[in-house]
Amino acid sequence: GSGGLVDRHGRTATDLRVSLTDRCNLRCTYCMPPEGLQWLPKAEQLTDDEVARLVGIGVERLGIREVRFTGGEPLLRPGLVGIVEAATALSPRPEVSLTTNAIGLARVAPALAAAGLDRINVSLDTLDRERFKQLAYRDRLDDVLAGLAAAQEAGLTPVKVNAVLLHGVNDSDALPLLDFCLEHGYQLRFIEQMPLDAHHAWTRGRMVTAEDILEQLSAAHELTPDTEERGSAPAERWLVDGGPATVGIIASVTRSFCGTCDRTRLTADGQIRNCLFAREESDLRTAMREGATDDELADRWRIATLAKLPGHGIDDPSFLQPSRPMSAIGG
Ligand code: GTP
Ligand code: 5AD
Ligand code: SF4
Repeated sequence: GSGGLVDRHGRTATDLRVSLTDRCNLRCTYCMPPEGLQWLPKAEQLTDDEVARLVGIGVERLGIREVRFTGGEPLLRPGLVGIVEAATALSPRPEVSLTTNAIGLARVAPALAAAGLDRINVSLDTLDRERFKQLAYRDRLDDVLAGLAAAQEAGLTPVKVNAVLLHGVNDSDALPLLDFCLEHGYQLRFIEQMPLDAHHAWTRGRMVTAEDILEQLSAAHELTPDTEERGSAPAERWLVDGGPATVGIIASVTRSFCGTCDRTRLTADGQIRNCLFAREESDLRTAMREGATDDELADRWRIATLAKLPGHGIDDPSFLQPSRPMSAIGG
């Protein structure tokens, strides 16, 4: 075959999200239990060269224009800088970004920038040290703040901050987070919690919605819809107090954006997922290790994309959470 990653509903995937590990050094309650999860065995994880090969096929044969590395926590991957270097050396050169909890970023931000990394998104749900400990089971707020500052310093901009709000836990943190991001020039986005937690405890009724968040922020700031073209971006954006600063909301549940989805995903163990909520995966790792050519791997990736469903189906009575948790997909 030839051509890009097209599905039966007319969407084309040009944005590749690559999970580099399922491990993490935090235990955010909405994601992972305190004791951690059953990690992928090393032998099932793609090597650095295998990751680079698949990213290369995506970019050079399948029309991928943006590559985002995720985890688990991607900074835990020893070969990260080399993997970023391999991605930025491709042509046409993709935009390359990272989604991280920023622990350890203060040390490696300059090396990542030198490897060609374009920008960074950092997960941060509270600025209160006690609440951070309660939410993430680790006392690492200072490391995260240092990592954020280092990303900005290294020019990995715009630095975006992702926050998930939980009722009765950190919903009072919305305004402090916004003021902090306005002060430092970080672009804040709030994310509606999706049913991808390891313990399958999500319920729609307990989710903090986009509407809740807008109401809270509007009490202290004037928000006007950003007229800039949204394209396939998950975040809807508002100008804060007339701009130019913006705040975003990723309302995957109450205002889903599946109709414009341009994403395809590669897991740390070499499976293609055509959707965050896909129930089936395509095993490129085994095919690759059995000697498949680049052409054959590209074909498998195209076939996996064709079957992408029109939407996530969270509201369907028959909705089933995928068995792979968020930490093993990469968000
Ligand atoms: P930008 O290019 O900076 O806008 O990146 P991004 O927002 O796509 O990436 P990031 O890794 O920061 O993800 C933020 C949140 O958006 C996470 O909770 C992701 O799971 C969610 N997200 C990203 N892509 C999708 C998607 O295709 N579907 C859904 N439902 N959520 C997504
Ligand atoms: N729903 C929404 N976002 C989530 N994240 C982790 N788990 C969930 C979930 N269940 C966020 C992280 C990170 C991003 C990649 O996904 O906080 O910012
Ligand atoms: Fe794309 Fe699936 Fe996310 Fe919808 S839920 S935007 S189809 S990845």
